Amino acid sequence: MGQPRGSLPSGLLLTHSFELVRPRYTSALVPYNLRCMVKPHSPAQHAELLREEIRHHEHCYFVLDAPEITDAEFDRLMNELKAIEREHPELMTPDSPTQRVGGKPREGFVKVPHSTQMLSLDNAYSEGELRDWTRRVTELAGGQELEYECEYKLDGLSMALHYEPADEGARFARGITRGDGLVGEEVTANLRTIRSIPLTVGRQRLNEAGLEPPFEVRGEVLMPTKSFVAMNEQREEEGLSLFANPRNAAAGAVRVLEPKITAKRKLDFYSYFLLQDGRMARATQWEALEKLSVAGFKVNPNRIVTASFEELWNFVNATETARDTLPYEIDGVVVKVNSTALWQRLGFTGKAPRWAIAYKFAARAGVTQVENIFVSVGRTGKLTPAAALRPVFIGGTTVSRATLHNQDEIERLGLRIGDWVMVERGGDVIPKVTQVVNEGEHKRPSDARVFEMPKTCPECGGHIVRAEGEVNSFCVNVNCPAKLRESLLHFASRNVMNIEGMGEALVDQLLSRGLVHNIADLYSLTEKDLLQLERIGKKSAQNVLTEIETSKKLPLERVIFGLGIRMVGERTAEFLAEHFGSMQKLMEASEEELLEVNEVGPRIAASIREFFAEEKNRQLLRRLSDAGLTFTGEAKVRGTQLAGMTFVLTGTLPTYSREDAKKMIEDAGGKVSGSVSKKTSYVVAGEDAGSKLDKANSLGVKVISEAELLAMLAG
Ligand code: IVH
Repeated sequence: MGQPRGSLPSGLLLTHSFELVRPRYTSALVPYNLRCMVKPHSPAQHAELLREEIRHHEHCYFVLDAPEITDAEFDRLMNELKAIEREHPELMTPDSPTQRVGGKPREGFVKVPHSTQMLSLDNAYSEGELRDWTRRVTELAGGQELEYECEYKLDGLSMALHYEPADEGARFARGITRGDGLVGEEVTANLRTIRSIPLTVGRQRLNEAGLEPPFEVRGEVLMPTKSFVAMNEQREEEGLSLFANPRNAAAGAVRVLEPKITAKRKLDFYSYFLLQDGRMARATQWEALEKLSVAGFKVNPNRIVTASFEELWNFVNATETARDTLPYEIDGVVVKVNSTALWQRLGFTGKAPRWAIAYKFAARAGVTQVENIFVSVGRTGKLTPAAALRPVFIGGTTVSRATLHNQDEIERLGLRIGDWVMVERGGDVIPKVTQVVNEGEHKRPSDARVFEMPKTCPECGGHIVRAEGEVNSFCVNVNCPAKLRESLLHFASRNVMNIEGMGEALVDQLLSRGLVHNIADLYSLTEKDLLQLERIGKKSAQNVLTEIETSKKLPLERVIFGLGIRMVGERTAEFLAEHFGSMQKLMEASEEELLEVNEVGPRIAASIREFFAEEKNRQLLRRLSDAGLTFTGEAKVRGTQLAGMTFVLTGTLPTYSREDAKKMIEDAGGKVSGSVSKKTSYVVAGEDAGSKLDKANSLGVKVISEAELLAMLAG
């Protein structure tokens, strides 16, 4: 793929031409590094080159979905830029790709009026209603044949992004939520963390798109289904309440007061309007979308322009069929009159334009009856109630089960066994009961029963405990067979140890024959063991053994995740592996040391300590280690400038976020702790430092500024 080299800062010489064909995501990469073509004369130029480079790759990855380099290479470029900016803070620019997450947490959001009202859409629910709309607009437009532009109706939140003139072209200045359509809330700092939103649009792109700032881009913020599922899994693991759907999760993420949290939620942004002076900037909607795409914005490629109703209707049907395979949620198709010149003439009704309509897919929801509520036991011993439903056909599949999460959720719904309920199903999401109906023909039956959580484990009869303040109940029997089964399935699953073939059928057989009593036993399985099982021949036995063998090479974070420590999800496992670098160090870590790890709070730290304190678990780890699993990580190369020192960060530092400062200290061999004690070497205080500063003063701990810290880092 050719590079948009024309966008290089002026005054730089290309030392050789640069036309690389890059494989997608492969380690056999042609090194992509601007220094092979341009020799930077100064740190300022070097930083600018790196910024260009990073912007290009952000565009490839987050907008075009066609990365040209690996994540590791991308990180390397980013770290290089961070290092220069650290050394030369004066070179930092507000639109640098390193500055997506920045700024202080806010107290609230400021209300801002929209340039022109953000409208909503009228809906059509059938072919007839859609056809009627095309007839109506054709008539209103004087009977001329119209072209329609059709695109997906994304199930997210609409947003207005304002770009203003800047030296480099245009700069993202303000992002505003829809609000009531007239006035929204300014959420710029949060939107800056969305990598498909360009922070700047360079001159060349503006020229190619024929665009002059100021301009406004409207579109939809959404959370991809995969991020949503992963986020909810993590929240479940940590005992937090779950989001009902990606849309709510995205809405929550856009409105948090701390941009760092938005950044973690992995949001995406698709553009669908381009406005200049509050008016449509192009003659047709299609052209506007093309221009947006040329300017570097993400535009949904699934769209058509047609004058034929038949083609339009085919697009609607094809979209509905594709719905389940999309990486994000949609709830219909938006049809717009393509010619924007006609928009004015067609005008509005209430809050919706006449020139557009939303064809809404049938809701993937249905009403049915809860026949029973049963409780399953997960790998951590967590009890999860689920509704057994009278089978109901929803959006192409028969649903006979829906999750109820926990006792509190059942109480919140006011649900009894026998009730009529609304069940909803989304993309990847497990069906859920959203409300109790019990109306009209769906009356609550006279024998409807209140559900009670079992007092003992439904699998093993063990004790059930629900800790104070927790929403979940747990079976505390360490030998509970259900826990063992689930922990084996978790351990073998794709994103953990990836042992293909080790699914429910095999695990159940291994358990019932007593061949496996814990995860370490998997590594002692022999061909003879496997050949005793049903439906396992020589070939599949060999395959399973090869898979088990291969899993030994997986990195430390997978092994940590695979242990099934309560509240330690995939992300936490990664942080732990990175921080400690070995299983041994993690096992020996004190609560205080654990609290130094990113995102580890007192509850997670306690859970990790509890896990390793258990002799049975320590034995298990010895066996896994003997079997040859990966117990060390890539040791981080750390400096020694701050070795042996413990720091506490408080207040807002002038240039670095706390997370970055922490990383810098750790990279230099120092430790960062959350609380001040006599053992603290230094408290680094920024603006609005609070009680930690007082404590430091009372204990006589030395207080330093960010500048002093930087001086120490520089050695
Ligand atoms: S056009 C007239 N295009 O649907 C302006 N909206 O029900 C309406 N939406 O608030 C915007 N995908 O949040 C448009 N491709 C798309 C859309 C879309 C989703 C949302 C948008 C709007 C709501 C109206």
